[in-house]
Amino acid sequence: MKCILRKPQPHQPPPGNDTISFSINGNQYTVKPTDGGLNPESRLVDYIRDEANLKGTKWTCREGGCGACVVTARTKDPQTGQELVRAVNSCLTPVYACDGWDISTVEDLGNRRDGYHPIQKRLAQFGGTQCGFCTAGMVMNMYSLAMSKKDLKSEDVENSFDGNICRCTGYRPIFDAFKSFADDADPELKRRCGDIEDCGSCPGKSSGGCCSRAATNLPSANLDLSLPTGEKWNKVTDLKTTFEILKNHAKNNVKYRIVAGNTGTGVFKFDGPYDAYVEVNNIPDLSVLSVNKSEAVLGAAVTLTKAIDFLENLGNTEGYKYAGGVGHHIRRVANTPVRNFGTIAGNIMMKHDHHDFPSDIFLILETVGAKVYVASSPTDISSHTLDDFLNVDMKGKIIAYFTIPKRTGNYVYRSFKITKRHQNAHAYVNAGFLIKVDPANNFKITEKPSICFGGIGPKFVHATRTEEALTGADLTDPNTLKKAIKMLDEEVEPDNHLPDASPQYRKQLTKNLLYKVILGILGDKADGNLRSGAIDLPRKQNSGKQIYDTDEEFADSALYKPVAKLEALIQCSGEAEYVNDVPKQTGELSGAFVLATVANAEIKNVDASEALKMPGVVTFITAKDIPGRNSFYDGFMLNGKEELFVESHIRASGQALGLVVAETRDIVIAAAKLVKVEYKDKKKPILKIKDAIEKSKAEGTFETAVMYPSFMTVKSPDAPNTASEHKIKGELNIGGQAHFHMENHVALVIPQDDGLMVYSSTQWIDQTQMMIAKALNIPNNSIEIKVKRIGGSYGAKASRSTQVAVAAALASHITRKPVRVALDLEHGFEMMGKRLPYYGDYEVGFDQNGKIDALQAKVICDAGMYELDATSAFAVAYMQSCYHATGWNVQPGRTTTNTHLNTFCRAPGTTQGIAIIENIMEHIADVLKKDALEIRQANFLKPGDPLLPCHGKQHEGDVFEGVNLIPTIIEELKRTANYEERKRFVEDFNKSNRWMKRGLSLVPMRYLQAYHGMKYSVFVAIHNQDGTVSISHGGIECGQGINTKVAQVAAHTLGIPLSKIAVKATNNLVTANSDTTGGAITSELVSYATVKSCEQILERMAPIKKGLEDPSWEELVQKSNQSGIDLRGTYQYSLNDPDVKPYDIYGVNLTEVEVDILTGEFKIVRLDLVEDAGKSLSPEIDIGQIEGSLVMGLGLWSEEKLVFHPETGRLLTRNTWEYKIPFPKCIPEDMRIVIMRNATNPFGVLRSKATGEPPLCLSVAVLFAIKNAIKAARRDAGNTDWFQLDGPVTPEDVVRLSLTDPGAHFRY
Ligand SMILES: Cc1cc2nc3c(=O)[nH]c(=O)nc-3n(C[C@H](O)[C@H](O)[C@H](O)COP(=O)(O)OP(=O)(O)OC[C@H]3O[C@@H](n4cnc5c(N)ncnc54)[C@H](O)[C@@H]3O)c2cc1C
Ligand code: FES
Ligand code: FES
Repeated sequence: MKCILRKPQPHQPPPGNDTISFSINGNQYTVKPTDGGLNPESRLVDYIRDEANLKGTKWTCREGGCGACVVTARTKDPQTGQELVRAVNSCLTPVYACDGWDISTVEDLGNRRDGYHPIQKRLAQFGGTQCGFCTAGMVMNMYSLAMSKKDLKSEDVENSFDGNICRCTGYRPIFDAFKSFADDADPELKRRCGDIEDCGSCPGKSSGGCCSRAATNLPSANLDLSLPTGEKWNKVTDLKTTFEILKNHAKNNVKYRIVAGNTGTGVFKFDGPYDAYVEVNNIPDLSVLSVNKSEAVLGAAVTLTKAIDFLENLGNTEGYKYAGGVGHHIRRVANTPVRNFGTIAGNIMMKHDHHDFPSDIFLILETVGAKVYVASSPTDISSHTLDDFLNVDMKGKIIAYFTIPKRTGNYVYRSFKITKRHQNAHAYVNAGFLIKVDPANNFKITEKPSICFGGIGPKFVHATRTEEALTGADLTDPNTLKKAIKMLDEEVEPDNHLPDASPQYRKQLTKNLLYKVILGILGDKADGNLRSGAIDLPRKQNSGKQIYDTDEEFADSALYKPVAKLEALIQCSGEAEYVNDVPKQTGELSGAFVLATVANAEIKNVDASEALKMPGVVTFITAKDIPGRNSFYDGFMLNGKEELFVESHIRASGQALGLVVAETRDIVIAAAKLVKVEYKDKKKPILKIKDAIEKSKAEGTFETAVMYPSFMTVKSPDAPNTASEHKIKGELNIGGQAHFHMENHVALVIPQDDGLMVYSSTQWIDQTQMMIAKALNIPNNSIEIKVKRIGGSYGAKASRSTQVAVAAALASHITRKPVRVALDLEHGFEMMGKRLPYYGDYEVGFDQNGKIDALQAKVICDAGMYELDATSAFAVAYMQSCYHATGWNVQPGRTTTNTHLNTFCRAPGTTQGIAIIENIMEHIADVLKKDALEIRQANFLKPGDPLLPCHGKQHEGDVFEGVNLIPTIIEELKRTANYEERKRFVEDFNKSNRWMKRGLSLVPMRYLQAYHGMKYSVFVAIHNQDGTVSISHGGIECGQGINTKVAQVAAHTLGIPLSKIAVKATNNLVTANSDTTGGAITSELVSYATVKSCEQILERMAPIKKGLEDPSWEELVQKSNQSGIDLRGTYQYSLNDPDVKPYDIYGVNLTEVEVDILTGEFKIVRLDLVEDAGKSLSPEIDIGQIEGSLVMGLGLWSEEKLVFHPETGRLLTRNTWEYKIPFPKCIPEDMRIVIMRNATNPFGVLRSKATGEPPLCLSVAVLFAIKNAIKAARRDAGNTDWFQLDGPVTPEDVVRLSLTDPGAHFRY
């Protein structure tokens, strides 16, 4: 294998102890603090991007929660001196902590010129990139793993990716790519990479080749840095110096921070500022790991990764069996890069300083009776229990080490972490149990057990009374359990702290977990039916299958075959450029918004004087500085106005009040925090649809202000049956969802001689241009906009990104300087609207077969503070789905609330409309006690049935003339997915397991693909010298693969190889007036316009071709050019184009889940999805769209809950700590995706169908599958009533709705 990595660099000695030195990709960097520029909080990620000018490394969250910034660090183990290769979050790493490090970024691995690294190639080849913004972090995490692990197993790969988010792909292709490197890789994966160069060689394994060079890091030495801003930074390598420095700081009352991994700053971001920093990672004495006669010792600076290995190994040693469980628990703390650098002492000090921190490390160490040793000098060392330690004054002291005792006898250790998400999530409740039992004596508890709970309240640690009640008790005696549960009920009083789970749930968890432990101890002494209560929800490795057709007829064409994404390799190498990668301009300024933190109030005063005093701050811009219109959005569905900066009345928390402009991003972020805002006339905000409905009803405005006029009602031609055999009423609430694109909103505006050059991460350049022009009062043609690609969007960058671009343009206009506004994740969360929440209320009549003969429904969305992007008209139109509609009367409505303006999000409205009708099917089935599939079948649409009006597609009086493909797909799916057999298995499983339940759900869909009057243009240019082709189109590449499809279509139409086509950035000159990219239609319409543009040129070249004998493409192009033929073509698709007509997309999803009834946790065991993509233009791209869309939908229904503060209206779930999107362990363990075989489409573009949005509508099956599992538990609890389950479902909902009553239901 060709070595594409750099050669080892000669070792450079450190220039002195007032200078730090490190290498990035083999190049030495020296930082002398006295030169200025860097402060102690300056992070490695910014140094890599801005100083080393390596833009491949990205940032999204800046809190260790997303993995975008992961790089590889080679350092020396302070104990052994051996090299450590570790993935690290460069967003948490202070530059000053990098002294002696050898850092590799994604650019170190490979590039277009020198060749790509096997990891990069493999990820590209397996379709593991879409928007590509997460990709560098993924590559570097894999690289770090491969470099540090000799015998790589698939399981290692899966476990190591618990800190990297990908919102686009649904993870499956990323794991396939990386697992293909594992020794035990599935042969199918090996086969798939068969034709990739270097396939056999796993990086990190080959000796003498690339990946095996020695680190260039420097020996560690003490450092004493004095910063120009007054702070001190000391790196210490021995304890004596450490104590001298600390003593000095304590004596002089210096506010200092001990720096170990510095990962604590990802959780508690506002603990500073500090006057001094003392870096302790390099002290060998603090990294000790040893075992003596009576205890094991773990040094304070032992990382969590090291602790896991040590404890899990120790678990095999007599007297330390429990340690294995402790180590195993730490695997679920934080994520791999954080654990690689985060230390035990760091975690425990976080608990010391913030008692409400639900520390897992504290909990498990306290459970097993660990001791913490605190030192104020090498000889003055005191020991404490963990609990007592919380009250120790730590001024001038350090944690030196921890001990855990040897325990002989039959100790049972169990610990739990019940969370929002299995990976990288803090606990709702964590629990530790250490119980000594005598199995030979009725499982008597022979000494006082240790029972600890976290997440209850700042002071709660031990369930003391329960411990006492259990001491000496026989576990086989049912009264023992009863007594213990009663004690827990009395002594556990969880606090009420949003956005945490409710106190009721957390209290119940303590009882349920104790019951789990006792069932586990009793083992086969417990009733067989109950034993599933003892185990943790088992989780297997993920696997997937993807099935699609290719067409032999097109073997020589670029079309209808799987091709790698056009940009995949440059995304994998970090060469792909995003807006924030555009180099810093001369004189560039940075902008940061000042946001309202309350909703429903008036502005009393905004005082920026303190901010303006800060050196480097240039100006503060508010509404009065806007020369034109104070709006960044005038509406899409409706005309209106959304203020750029609030003038007086604040509707929603997160609205912008102004923009601070300063010389650097660091300064501007700090300055924005100094702007003081005073409010007046604060009123309680309305935050929920139902509250808004109640308010409007009370005010008598419900029918006019909430419900849309009657002409928007979707009605069947026939009247409802007023005497239906059965009648039911019900409702479904569906929450909002954050888009969570990995690339935050960003814009850079540069003044030019004729106006402004704008780089914006937008899906909609036309709207950006128009709104800048209106706000600045300048002509549209003075604004040039360029968008190469965006790092994910899903609707958020249609109207929302405009605010950032308009603000940056305004600042640039005012200052006459280039201005960049780059939001961080938290600001984006606060400012930007989300998917619209929904409320569906229905009354249905049906016969004994479940056939609906009357349906009255109201479908109301929460548009947020303005109704500009309300989507309920879509929802009611798409509700018919694949069903016959008799007697339907479905009325759309919208509320406005004091939340941000909610906006389009992948499959807007369609998702909720389809979910509501499917909920109705489930409800009918429940009443009739029938399988929900039977009810669906009884209602299937047949030829001749009326079609209800649907936006731009179906009209009054239309009837269904096509073939409803759903019955066929279902029959096929039932066969391939063993539906009947699995249904029986689920029934049997549920009968024989009281506490673990399975649920199965099958949801079909007919999705009406319409074009909504959107228009897009394309420009194609053929270059005469070599016949290569450049294309620019009006769509935006946001990960959906639009450029790849355009290139395939152009290559196919022109009859040339794909390699001849390049797709260039979108800009507002070449493709002026194009609409927003979205609705899964842009790829199609742009492909169509590409065909037309290419055909224009071919037509012009035809006479030349006639005159040549079998010319090569290059010859034809040259001759045409010489003959004066215009080799440029352009076409704009519009509604008037008769060739492209709306059509139906069909799909079915069968989902099976397993639910732990005692904890509420669930997992998706298997998911089979079939989607009709017509004749897929690019099957790998379409599979990627299906999987990504599906997994985003799984997040909507089963994870992503938004919580607002009830009094201020501020969003509380606004970062990766609180808002959880799907991670690898959330996706189905077994995911099988089929693009329907032998399908075609007479209406769409080149016989294909859209794929980006419909699968999201099918994801609701997971809600019903979980509901069916809960239903089985309720049946066991003696209740068979219908119950409402809203989305997103949480573990708390599962426990609450399962109706488990510990007093009545807990038995052995
Ligand atoms: C994304 C993310 C997810 C996380 N999830 C979890 C979770 O699920 N459960 C959980 O329990 N934790 C979690 N954590 C916390 C994580 O375990 C800690 O951040 C880590 O262990 C802190 O170690 P550190 O070395 O980085 O500490 P630092 O950040 O360097 O320091 C933290 C504090 O400890 C002090 N300190 C460090 N070493 C010493 C010492 N030897 N003596 C005295 N004071 C010292 C510092 O002064 C500082 O106040 C998470 C963190 C992140 C970033
Ligand atoms: S940016 Fe570093 S983990 Fe998210
Ligand atoms: S490709 Fe992973 S976030 Fe877009």
